[in-house]
Amino acid sequence: MEHEYQNNPSGKMPQKIRFEYDDDEGEEESRFQDPDETIEEAATESSNLEEDLTMCDPDPDDASVIGADKTSADYYFDSYSHFGIHEEMLKDVVRTKTYQNVIYKNSFLFKDKVVLDVGAGTGILSLFCAKVGAKHVYAIECSGMADMAQEIVKLNGYSEVITVLKGKVEEIELPVAQVDIIISEWMGYFLLYENMLDTVLYARNKWLVKDGLVLPDKASLYLTAIEDADYKEDKIEFWNNVYGFNMSCIRKQSIMEPLVDTVDQKQIVTSCQRLKVGNLSVL
Ligand SMILES: C[S@@+](CC[C@H](N)C(=O)[O-])C[C@H]1O[C@@H](n2cnc3c(N)ncnc32)[C@H](O)[C@@H]1O
Repeated sequence: MEHEYQNNPSGKMPQKIRFEYDDDEGEEESRFQDPDETIEEAATESSNLEEDLTMCDPDPDDASVIGADKTSADYYFDSYSHFGIHEEMLKDVVRTKTYQNVIYKNSFLFKDKVVLDVGAGTGILSLFCAKVGAKHVYAIECSGMADMAQEIVKLNGYSEVITVLKGKVEEIELPVAQVDIIISEWMGYFLLYENMLDTVLYARNKWLVKDGLVLPDKASLYLTAIEDADYKEDKIEFWNNVYGFNMSCIRKQSIMEPLVDTVDQKQIVTSCQRLKVGNLSVL
C-alpha cells in the first residue's frame, strides 16, 4: 500500500485561518486595515463569549459521560482527548476510506493474525481489522480517547477481539511478545509534522514478528512551489502595522515558520517533485 500524503483536510493541528478578501470590492480590504476601528465596531459577534465558555465544559458531577471531569484547559494541551479532532479525521473520507479499502480488500492478510494499532484514537482501524477476522487486535492510545475507544469496542461487540491499552506505546506492556501486523495513521502535515513515525518504528523494532507487516508500508514526500503575494501580505507583512503599532519583530519569526493552509490550484507555479520515498519495513 503506497500512501501518497497530499492535502489532508483532517487538520490534525489547529487550522490557520486565512483572511477572506471580497472579490467584488475594487480594492482588497483586510480586517485590520483601519487601525483605529473601535472595539464596538469590531466585536459584533462575540457578545456571548462568557456563555459559550461555560457550555464547553461538561458537568463534572455527571459520571455517565466519559470525560465529564475535563475542562477546556485539559483539551488545550491534549487535543486528541477531545472528540472534535477525531470527528475531523473520521470525516476525512479519503484518509479513512483508504485504510478501510486496504483492510477490507486484503482481508486474507488479517485473517487470524495478531494486529497492533499504534495510536488507535477512537479505535476505527482496530474495528476494521477485527471485522475482517483478525485473531486479536491490541489498540494502544495514550490520550483520554482510549476510554471512549474501549466503550466503542464494547458497543460494537468486539470486546473479545480488541484490547484497548491506555498509555504511551513507549511505556506500555503488551500482553503478547510479538504481533504479525502493525497498523497506524501516523502521518502529519508534510508527512513528518506529527512526529509519530518514531513511535511506529519503536513498536516495529520491539514487537513485530520477522517478516511481519507495517501498514502503510511506504510513504512519499512531495514538494511544489506556490506564489501568493496577497497571502504573504496577510500573514507576514501584517506584523508591520497592527492596529497602528509596529510588531515587525514577530514578522521575522513568522517568515521562518511553515504555514499549513489550502491553496488555490492557480497559485502553484512549479511541477510537483517527489523528494523521498520511505519503506517502513526497513527504515
Ligand atoms: C492521527 S491520530 C489517528 C487516530 C486513529 N488511528 C484514526 O485513524 O482515526 C493519532 C493518535 O495517536 C495517538 N498517539 C500519538 N502518539 C502516541 C504514543 N506515543 N503512544 C500512544 N498513542 C499515541 C494520539 O493520541 C492520536 O489519538
